[in-house]
Amino acid sequence: MKLHQILSAEAEAAFAAAGISGSPVALQPAKNPDFGDYQINGVMGAAKAAKQNPRELAQKVAGALADSKVFAAAEVAGPGFINLRLKPEFLAENMKNIFQQQQLGITRADAPQTVVIDYSSPNLAKEMHVGHLRSGIIGDSIARILGFLGHRVIRQNHVGDWGTQFGMLIAYLIEQKQQNSNFELADLEQFYRNAKVRFDEDPAFADTARAYVVKLQSGDEQVLEWWQQFVDLSLQHAENVYQTLGLLLERDDVCGESFYNKDLQNTVDELAAMGLAVDDEGAKVVFLPEFKNKDGEAAAFIVQKQGGGFLYASTDLACMRYRVNELQADRLMYVVDHRQALHFQQLFAVSRKAGWLPENVSAEFVGFGTMMGKDGKPFKTRSGDTVKLVDLLDEAVERATALVRGKNPALDDTAAAEIGRTVGIGAVKYADLSKNRSSDYVFDWEQMLSFEGNTAPYLQYAYTRVQSVFKKAGAWTMPEALLLNDSLEQRLAVELLRFEDVLNAAAEQAAPHYLAGYLYQLAALFSRFYEACPILKAEGVVRDSRLALAKLTGETLRQGLALLGIDTLDVM
Ligand code: ARG
Repeated sequence: MKLHQILSAEAEAAFAAAGISGSPVALQPAKNPDFGDYQINGVMGAAKAAKQNPRELAQKVAGALADSKVFAAAEVAGPGFINLRLKPEFLAENMKNIFQQQQLGITRADAPQTVVIDYSSPNLAKEMHVGHLRSGIIGDSIARILGFLGHRVIRQNHVGDWGTQFGMLIAYLIEQKQQNSNFELADLEQFYRNAKVRFDEDPAFADTARAYVVKLQSGDEQVLEWWQQFVDLSLQHAENVYQTLGLLLERDDVCGESFYNKDLQNTVDELAAMGLAVDDEGAKVVFLPEFKNKDGEAAAFIVQKQGGGFLYASTDLACMRYRVNELQADRLMYVVDHRQALHFQQLFAVSRKAGWLPENVSAEFVGFGTMMGKDGKPFKTRSGDTVKLVDLLDEAVERATALVRGKNPALDDTAAAEIGRTVGIGAVKYADLSKNRSSDYVFDWEQMLSFEGNTAPYLQYAYTRVQSVFKKAGAWTMPEALLLNDSLEQRLAVELLRFEDVLNAAAEQAAPHYLAGYLYQLAALFSRFYEACPILKAEGVVRDSRLALAKLTGETLRQGLALLGIDTLDVM
């Protein structure tokens, strides 16, 4: 349910009744739940604008709320805040509604948008390493949340599958296959390194590689076929990682740099015809006065290199046209490392000027910080190498399996493996998604695998705890009207009814950590409720109402975690 909207409407009516117009009510969940469930912060601003005494005005607003069907109490506090408590009957009725509605009462968007989400998008020449982790995890969660809210989500895996390095890689692949017809590309990283060595040491090899680049770019069929083989192989590597991580990305979502090759020259020519791209020492450049370079001059966005070659920016411009015109996007999201922020700001600016990114289409750079080791430096292996994603994920599962075995030695191998996988992968994902994506974050095994605190294991365990209640509860019927007498019952109900508001905020700001923080708060509140309000020992409608709270808590945890891409288990 859209709780915030309903409460805001009540508060707005009270503002109007108190003679306030044009000032926002600024309704928020209460900072301190001891004083209320929600608070109105907008009276001070309104009083200032109307030159009135804020406390007196707040009294008027509170008075107007006195016979609200929604608020039980409205109390003025401090300089003119209003603390609000929701009516237990209102909570009970809406809780009950949720059980009768589809997808936990969460409404699908009235005006669904077509949202193109660019995520994962690794460069194919290299094996996926930890630097590729965040984009995949964050992008996937955003895709899930937006889809759940009823938007049409188009996932785009903008892989780096075009460029001069492919000549070298193809040359090496062919050479290896000639020497061993059963050659399998097992270790991309090593393969790239070996190819580079060959390239540097053998001029003949380097010539072959360069010749392949020319042939590839001019559409030579044989070379294209080899290139395709290399791309397929490295996509299989990426897909292994996606599968282990449980990402939604599929082969059909791949729309890499090569796809735009045919449109690059047109794109640049059109920019030149519009007078946006100009010649600069043989290169084609768009000057952007709103971005200054180091010398305080207009920044140069290079769209074609000296000698005619294209670059990352050319591809992204062509891609922009495709996403807006062909995919018909209303909203574009790019989930990419924050070091590329400037590239995207400039890309958006050029696209707007060229009319390729109309005003009614939003373009968002969904940047994220670096994954750090406990030493505060970018995460590396002990020997200082970049960590391969497959290795990292294997380690997560191993550690989690050992942990659950330690907790429960009676587990059989299959169960331990299943729980270990769910907890290990969940922990890695949650550690990322629970942080504000813009900041760097410290990757810390002990912290993320802890069963205490804001972690996946804590939340997964909270879910299984609810399941075990129901195993013991036997038959349960939904009461005619829920009874919510205890303040913890009421607070838990308020929290449960906020789910849709939280999802909307997470969707709007591309901020899965809102959802994570909410789930943690919910689980913590459930645990307090569980201690304070016996469920199974209670009787009659009290017992059934508490079971309803438990049921909805479990469902919300399961659904919320699923939207973060994290699995739950009935037993752990
Ligand atoms: N392949 C790029 C990299 O690894 C990321 C691509 C992001 N998407 C885009 N449309 N530029 O840095």
